[in-house]
Amino acid sequence: MTIAFYSAQPFEQRWFDELRGHHQITYIPEALTLETASKAAGHQAVCAFVNDDLSRPVLQQLRRLGIGVLGMRCVGLDNVDQHALCDLDMTLLHIPGYSPFSVAEQAIGLLLGLIRHLPEAHNRVTTGNFSINGLVGTDLHGKTVGVIGTGRIGKAFLHIVQGFGCKVLAYDIGPDRRLVESGVVYVPLRELLQQADIVSLHCALTPLTTYLINAKTLPLLKPGAFLVNTGRGKLVHTEALLDALDAGQLAGYAADVYEGERTYFHYDYADQPITDALLNRLRTHPRVLLTAHQGFLTDEALRQIARSMLNQFSFYDNQQTALITRASMC
Ligand code: NAI
Repeated sequence: MTIAFYSAQPFEQRWFDELRGHHQITYIPEALTLETASKAAGHQAVCAFVNDDLSRPVLQQLRRLGIGVLGMRCVGLDNVDQHALCDLDMTLLHIPGYSPFSVAEQAIGLLLGLIRHLPEAHNRVTTGNFSINGLVGTDLHGKTVGVIGTGRIGKAFLHIVQGFGCKVLAYDIGPDRRLVESGVVYVPLRELLQQADIVSLHCALTPLTTYLINAKTLPLLKPGAFLVNTGRGKLVHTEALLDALDAGQLAGYAADVYEGERTYFHYDYADQPITDALLNRLRTHPRVLLTAHQGFLTDEALRQIARSMLNQFSFYDNQQTALITRASMC
């Protein structure tokens, strides 16, 4: 197939080039938007990522260009207007999952960095400041960790914190029976928020989970609790979160995602103004540890993403060829 590959980054091209087989891929560094959609002309399929715009107008434009297939090389599909896809009779391919450890371990890294002040400690050492005053941290061992969303990533995260000697409470609209059998306790969301020392978000972003953490739910958290978000930015109402941090309601926030990340994350703005006041408040807050959506960024995950996405394109292509062959025989 000929594939227009948006938001292309060198670290993923390596794997797609190695595994692409007969597919022809045009790497387009720009994100997919209404303005850049025309670059897909002449291709059969589009391959897009987390921060590409897959709203109805963009999909309509792709359809007009003859694109019949959209491949999403990510797990969350919250940026895709799936009703529009149906209306336009376009096929959606996506990867069912890849190394959940990549994201779960990023969440653990962020959590440890936050509660042990590791970024600040490292910065001090690089400037020759070896003082450890003000760097008093918190043990993970013995803490109660609340995991919201016990799918692939939530489960991997949960097993890691069990290894640290934490007690785990879980919340999910579809509890996992095997986890219950292994001793994980599911509780209502309110109870989880009230009892956990650390809350980690691993649920999908849906209308039900949008702004799950907001001005009404934040006060339910234990004073001094920590919040981790490697799910999606919009699970958390950022302004309410920053207010809770300023008010001392929350001890710290570690995140790999931000609700307005689309413009900035994965691009170098070091020499350009960042005009998003909320992002500026978030990224400079002394009790926030933020990375720019890199949970998937391990060799293992990138390889699995490329393999799985290309398999999906091949499967679709083979089915189409079979249909055409069958039709010509009738
Ligand atoms: P999954 O589909 O295996 O698990 C999602 C879980 O969320 C399911 O168990 C589901 O029942 C639960 N859920 C859905 N609605 C809920 C609700 N209203 N309340 C509570 N739980 C609810 O997905 P997976 O692979 O574990 O990924 C989880 C999320 O992590 C993705 O949706 C995506 O947003 C995010 N993600 C982030 C990455 C990063 O680089 N930071 C990379 C990959 C995924």
